Amino acid sequence: MEKLLTNEFIMAPLKLGYCQDKDGKVNDRHLNFYQQRVKYLGAIISEPFYIQAGLRENPFQLGIDADNKIEGIAKIAELAHKSGTKFIAHINHPGRMANPNIPNNFYWSASAVPCENGGAVPTAMDENMMSITIDTFAQAAIRAQKANADFIELQFGFGYLLSQFLSPQTNLRTDEYGGSFENRMQFPLRVLKAIQQSVSIPIIARVSATDFQPNGITINETIMLSQRLEKEGVVAIHITAGSACSAPAWFYQHMFTQKGKTWELAAQIQNKVNIPVIFHGRIHSTDDIKLLKEKYKAQYLSIGRALVADERFVAKALGMANEPIRPCLACSEGCLGGVRAGKGLGCVVNPKVNNSFPEIQKATKPKNIAVVGGGIAGMEAAIQLKAKGHQVTIYEKDKLGGQFLLAYLPSKKESLIEIVDFYKKEIERLKITVEYKEATSELIEQQGFDEVVIATGAKPLVPNIKGLTKYHWAEILEKPYTIQNKKVIVIGGGLIGVEIASKLLDYNNQITIVEMLDEIARGLELIERNMTLAKFKQNNVQILIKHKVVEVNGTTVILENENHQRVQINDIDEIVVAVGMQSYKPFETSIPTHFVGDALKVAKAQEAIVEAYKIATQI
Ligand SMILES: Cc1cc2nc3c(=O)[nH]c(=O)nc-3n(C[C@H](O)[C@H](O)[C@H](O)COP(=O)(O)OP(=O)(O)OC[C@H]3O[C@@H](n4cnc5c(N)ncnc54)[C@H](O)[C@@H]3O)c2cc1C
Ligand SMILES: Cc1cc2nc3c(=O)[nH]c(=O)nc-3n(C[C@H](O)[C@H](O)[C@H](O)COP(=O)(O)O)c2cc1C
Ligand code: SF4
Repeated sequence: MEKLLTNEFIMAPLKLGYCQDKDGKVNDRHLNFYQQRVKYLGAIISEPFYIQAGLRENPFQLGIDADNKIEGIAKIAELAHKSGTKFIAHINHPGRMANPNIPNNFYWSASAVPCENGGAVPTAMDENMMSITIDTFAQAAIRAQKANADFIELQFGFGYLLSQFLSPQTNLRTDEYGGSFENRMQFPLRVLKAIQQSVSIPIIARVSATDFQPNGITINETIMLSQRLEKEGVVAIHITAGSACSAPAWFYQHMFTQKGKTWELAAQIQNKVNIPVIFHGRIHSTDDIKLLKEKYKAQYLSIGRALVADERFVAKALGMANEPIRPCLACSEGCLGGVRAGKGLGCVVNPKVNNSFPEIQKATKPKNIAVVGGGIAGMEAAIQLKAKGHQVTIYEKDKLGGQFLLAYLPSKKESLIEIVDFYKKEIERLKITVEYKEATSELIEQQGFDEVVIATGAKPLVPNIKGLTKYHWAEILEKPYTIQNKKVIVIGGGLIGVEIASKLLDYNNQITIVEMLDEIARGLELIERNMTLAKFKQNNVQILIKHKVVEVNGTTVILENENHQRVQINDIDEIVVAVGMQSYKPFETSIPTHFVGDALKVAKAQEAIVEAYKIATQI
């Protein structure tokens, strides 16, 4: 392995969800995605291929289940090889994790333990099912070799089938495949052996160091497994943590998990084996790379979302491009969210992912452009317009960053600020003028601008509630410590209300959330949503859906339910109002005007950045 890769960077396997025809075949969307990222990498690992049509995790996933898939996969290998990059085909059997919403999927596992994440009840595999499965794996490996893969990566982790045999939580068998760890390893080792006998290319194992489950796989067991895999001829171990069913936040290295934990676990395994270990998980900056090399002596680094957020991540990290890295925020919103929504992998910070915008080209006729508002939409528009050769002035009446200066303040969302820092660096590097003043139509018209981009964001809505005079909005996130040990009512259970509630819980407040609709936490990214709702449950947050606040009378708040019955809540110390936002358009001008971000339509960061980029391509 060491001699075979030109450098230490390996692209991690990411389900792209780009087979819009549900045919499992490689198309231009896949090829474009890989083509933009392949340069400067030692190897790319493919999207995890399904090995049989009934074993799909996603309807839009790539397959390696039939010979008619080989030609397409070979195109990925070819584009990798043209850049001197190796191609690693990732094959996996999801077992109980096959998607229950896909017709004709089937669910086999070590035992009949369903996936707690909405999975079907699997059938415990008998010898015949094991033989069929082993053969299915071997056939997939043969196709990978025919498609010119240089390596196969076999999934032993993340709670998929082989891991379901390894974990005592999912393997309740009493035969020779259950019980001791030695027994639990037997079926995964049979799969490995069958693949080794079927192909001549080397095999990399992806393992979960631990799945963080009370009765799950421990780091000591994974060390034993890794040593055994080394003995059996595996050439490298790719260390992850978590499980798609039981610990998805770890699987996706979500911002809610501890950064660096997988590095520590990988280092423990590295100390006990003699084959290369591939470190992974939120390797998102040059500092991360330096730390991994110096502290953990990491030889190989697998990079997933950092390459989504910035296709030139490795070139920039290697110092080949003197530009800041567009940072992955570990939010999972655009990538995982896009795949789950059936749109395919996108990215909150990178508008080019999964959008067919033209590349930014130098404008034939440079213009003088005002960008009003220095939130993320305004800053994205400004840097792209400047890159096109236009003269750009940003007007910002407060601080660069806009609402994102609040968005990163809720619990465990610190990584969101990195995109604001990126834009500030770009504005400085590109020498974009920033005027810290409130723009008016007179000011803009006096300066002789050719066009104006209005990116002035949105303002919070205030409901017309009798007696409501003193309340907080998201600004409380800047000083949450000013409300401690209090009884707080949050009016509005959308994204902002829920995030404020979560933050105030950290200061020992007793929270009630009142929401008119039939659920709270709409609009939150799924992992964040699930973890936040679990936190609310643990902390006895009172959630009143289908209720609205109709009156405030001193410390008493009066609500009305859907049947117009009144409910009274007493002794309220503080009120938070988060019932939505409305676009803020401060002025009109005769100069040709474009609206972007929340000023155009109240939405989230991804929409703001995409719209800003799109407008920049058009000016
Ligand atoms: C608490 C909170 C949490 C959030 N969490 C998330 C999240 O997790 N994920 C997500 O995707 N989105 C989140 N959002 C939403 C996200 O912040 C917005 O979608 C995004 O910031 C909109 O960007 P924008 O540039 O359009 O507007 P804004 O960020 O509102 O920026 C507008 C800017 O214009 C300036 N301005 C206004 N008028 C003028 C003028 N006349 N002259 C000069 N300057 C002016 C303002 O000072 C401001 O800086 C959150 C928002 C909040 C409040
Ligand atoms: C949308 C998405 C889909 C993924 N699908 C898989 C998968 O099917 N199998 C797998 O082993 N890892 C999968 N991963 C995990 C990545 O390989 C990687 O471990 C994870 O993104 C954390 O690394 P990063 O911080 O470098 O992105 C997926 C990640 C994302 C974001
Ligand atoms: S959507 Fe978020 S987590 Fe996913 S790649 Fe983009 S910034 Fe990273």
